[in-house]
Parts: sequence; structure tokens; C-alpha cells
Amino acid sequence: MLREIDRVAANPAASAADPAFLADVLAGFASAQKAVPARWFYDHRGSELFEAITALPEYYPTRTERRILAAAAGEIAARVGPRRAVVEFGSGSSAKTPLLLSAVAPSAYVPVDISGAFLRESAAALARSFPHLPIHPLEADFLKPLALPAALAGAPRLGFFPGSTIGNMEADAAVDLLRTLAATLGAGAQLVIGIDRIKGEDVLLPAYDDAQGVTAQFNLNVLVRINRELGANIPVRAFRHRVRWNDAAARIEMHLEAQRDLAFTIAGRPFSIRAGETIHTENSHKYGPRDASLLLRAAGWTPVAGWTDPEELFAVLLAEVAP
Ligand code: AVI
Repeated sequence: MLREIDRVAANPAASAADPAFLADVLAGFASAQKAVPARWFYDHRGSELFEAITALPEYYPTRTERRILAAAAGEIAARVGPRRAVVEFGSGSSAKTPLLLSAVAPSAYVPVDISGAFLRESAAALARSFPHLPIHPLEADFLKPLALPAALAGAPRLGFFPGSTIGNMEADAAVDLLRTLAATLGAGAQLVIGIDRIKGEDVLLPAYDDAQGVTAQFNLNVLVRINRELGANIPVRAFRHRVRWNDAAARIEMHLEAQRDLAFTIAGRPFSIRAGETIHTENSHKYGPRDASLLLRAAGWTPVAGWTDPEELFAVLLAEVAP
């Protein structure tokens, strides 16, 4: 009988795989509630699909945050001051970045993203709009403390963490991350962060289950990625995108539900799933106004200002760490 390590080594796709991805998927599929951490959505295709989601009529967060940033740009600039180095965490397409960069006149811009190809494409596009701004793309996982480019030495920093990405974490992990961002940015840093608000299911559910099925494709793409990168043979078409509001945890949950009993292998290892059983792929936590401040304070950030839209769908907060 082959040991696990031999099976993985015998499978070329799996042996070339990111070991962290393989470990997360093997552990997640072995759990009572099968799960894949949401961070693995973002291969190149996943990043493209996420960009498509942000333009959907049902997906209110992106356009609402953009409107808030546009309306608050002057106030943000007054509080931030010029010549800070802007470090954007999980920059993706950098779609909201021009709003902030135009407002705060930064000394440099560091987009940080785990998806290298996407990072370089969007950094190049941004360079065309801001030809005099030094841009230093950093392909990295911002969940860990990062060494920022040497060119930023001595410059005060402004972190930018839009899109309510913080909502994709459990509260304890969110606090850890906010502490890590403070460590990466250093003493005296400021942070502009977007946080999605709690609201009715009538708005929340369609935002994560759109009529065109783009979010369904985004969700299913993680199985496509597992098949390609981990040498798996999961029958992707036998799964359906499912969304629920978990009121006790104040979060949207995304799942992939098996439509029939299935058996497949991942990196040579056998798995099965029953009809109706799900793979939990994402949590998207929503925060009330006081919850968001508490989260920041728990991580050592002091909220100093906040802005929302007229319907209070979304909030943008400015916070500081002690100099
Ligand atoms: C990236 N993140 C904040 C998105 C969200 O709303 O939780 C990811 C997403 N998942 C489905 N639609 C969008």
C-alpha cells in the first residue's frame, strides 16, 4: 500500500502544488463539515471572476464603498496629510485605489497581493494613470508580517484595506490580521479599511447568489483549481452553489452542495461526499458600527473617523496606531 507521501509524489500535478494549498484541502476534505479556506479562491481565473462579481448589480459592497471613498476623499486627505506611502493589502485589480491615491498625494504605492500575475497586470495599469508615482508591487501573503520595500524607509505609512476582506475571517483571525498589518506598517501608521454592515437577507442573499451565476462560477472554480493543481478528479458539475445567512454568527456562508453521492481522489487520496452534503467555502462576516470599532480597538488600532452611505450598507473607517 502506498503511503500518502508516495501517492503525492507519484502525481506530477500534486507534487508541483503549493504545499499549503494541498495541506488545507486534505485537512478540509477530511473534516466532518468539509471545507476549503476562502483564500484559495484567488487563482488567476478566481481573481477575474471576483472582479466580475464586483460589477454585478446585486453586489452592492464595491460600488457603495467607491461612492463613500469618493465623497470622503477630501476629509480623508485632510486627516492623512500628504506624502504617506500607501500600502494596499489584497490589492486585486486596484479598482478603488485611484480614488485614494488622487486624494492623499502619496510618496509611493505598494500593492500587496498573493496572485502575482494579477498584481503585475493591475500595477502596470495603475502606473499609466499615475506616471510619476513610484509603484512597488509585492507578491506576498499579507497574513504574515511583511518587509516593505527599502524605498519606503522613513516614510510614514497609510494602509489601505478596502472591500471588507476582513469580513472573510473569523473575529479572532481578523484581530490577528489587524495586529499584523500594524506590525507591517510600523509605529504611527494609519489605516483606511472598508467593512460591510449587517443588513437584511433581501439584500445580502442576492449579493452572494446573483442572477447571472457569476458568484456560482467563482465558488465552483475552487474545485476546478483543486482538480488542476492537486491532481484531483472532483466532478465539478455535480456540485451546486449554495448561500445562507447565519444570523447567530452575523455572516453569509457559501457552500458547494453535492447533488448526488460522489467519490473522487485528491492527490491520490480517496474521498466521498453524500448527496446534500456541502463543502463550506467562505464566510463573509458583517459588522454593526460598534462591532467594527471594537474589532479595530482589539487589535491596537484607534478609530479616528468613519464614513458610510445614506442607506448605511457599508462603512469606511480611518484608524491609527500610536506613534
Ligand atoms: C473578497 N470578499 C470581501 C468578498 C465578500 O464579499 O466576502 C468575496 C466574495 N465572495 C462572494 N462574493 C464576493
